[in-house]
Amino acid sequence: MKKSTTHELLARRFQVMGQHSPVFYEQPLHLVRGEGVWLYDKQGRRYLDVYNNVPHVGHCHPHVVETLNKQASQLNIHSRYLNDNVVEYLERLTASFDDSLSMAMLTCTGSEANELALRMARHATNAQGVIVTDFAYHGNTESVAEIGTGFMPEAKRTKRVKAFAIPDSYRGLAGVKHEELAQAYAAQVRTAVDEFEDAGIKVAAILVCPDFANEGLLNVPAGFLEEAVAVVRKAGGLFIADEVQAGFGRTGKHMWAHQAYGVTPDIVTLGKPMGNGHPLAGVVARPDLVENFSKQAMYFNTFAGTPVSSAVGMAVLDVLANENLQQNAISIGDYVIKGLKRLQSKFELIGDVRGLGMFFALELVLDRKTKLPAIHQAKRLINIMREKGVLISTIGVTDSILKLRPPMPFNETHANLLLETLDASFEQLIEEGH
Ligand SMILES: Cc1ncc(COP(=O)(O)O)c(C=O)c1O
Repeated sequence: MKKSTTHELLARRFQVMGQHSPVFYEQPLHLVRGEGVWLYDKQGRRYLDVYNNVPHVGHCHPHVVETLNKQASQLNIHSRYLNDNVVEYLERLTASFDDSLSMAMLTCTGSEANELALRMARHATNAQGVIVTDFAYHGNTESVAEIGTGFMPEAKRTKRVKAFAIPDSYRGLAGVKHEELAQAYAAQVRTAVDEFEDAGIKVAAILVCPDFANEGLLNVPAGFLEEAVAVVRKAGGLFIADEVQAGFGRTGKHMWAHQAYGVTPDIVTLGKPMGNGHPLAGVVARPDLVENFSKQAMYFNTFAGTPVSSAVGMAVLDVLANENLQQNAISIGDYVIKGLKRLQSKFELIGDVRGLGMFFALELVLDRKTKLPAIHQAKRLINIMREKGVLISTIGVTDSILKLRPPMPFNETHANLLLETLDASFEQLIEEGH
């Protein structure tokens, strides 16, 4: 294998992957090893990972790695043969959902899961229209890019997607009282349905991430989602919950983020943390939807539902339960939020602190009254944090919200290091004159 310095590797990467393939940080990280919540670079320096949710139960968790090794050395085959693993895995997985969501189909990525969910919904409703937020990202296939209102060109061209304003209690809607926000946002969903109908397009589904994670981990006005789904269902559409980021116990109180709401989805999509880094994703849905769809459109996915993937999926569920990680998301989540609130009282720049279990957002603003986004400050801050050895990133419409989403075995010692480093980084930001 050709060895390069970090600088040379970046140049080679540009040559072979193009100038625009995204890479984190002004000084990109050249990583060689991961363990638990830690990542190690080429020079042997370790970084606290407060960003990655894919290594859900920790980077290179020994139980997951051993399970993968063992099954990979015994048998790996596609799902058109009988094998215990895939059936047992899906039985265990679906058991964590509402009784109405009792069937599953596996894919290899979250994009494929959303693609399949859209096909299933359009097939069941004989309709095309899909309603999403106006800053959505749900993946990279063509129909999923169409619903990527955040930054996908396909979303601008399509006629079969309509968007409503992100349901954001912090920023709200101009001229709308706080207690009326839920109704006001839901009214936008009603408008989307009406506009579809005026254009002769029927509604197939509303598709949202229940954490509104890419939108900025929003505090959703209470009652909004229930009302929005009721509007869509009345028009004949389904509710698809994209749990690709939000799922697998990250919110602490629930295994699935949608379970915090008073409405059950018709279809749920899963991904990222599902295989702890192994490409494992899928769809959980009502059995009538799965049966009617697969009766007419034979669904097969070569690499999905193999004995290896299924064994890995089960190993992730084992660790989640054995190491009490969902409970950990509640207790450490509370601890981190308290610390973040202390930082908010110290630094004017922190306009809002939000959290859902082991997932946190700090919205940076230039002025707490006008809430003007502190875009440059957010960008600089994540780079200062990286220099100090803690990895975070940004999200939201203007990329001015700090996104903190560590692997689930994050403990109090890690939390203290995160909070101290944030404190020192905000201080440095001020010293630098931002
Ligand atoms: C909410 C959400 N859905 C779907 C996806 C797509 O998943 P994948 O990259 O595995 O295709 C992502 C990826 O960032 C996501 O954040």
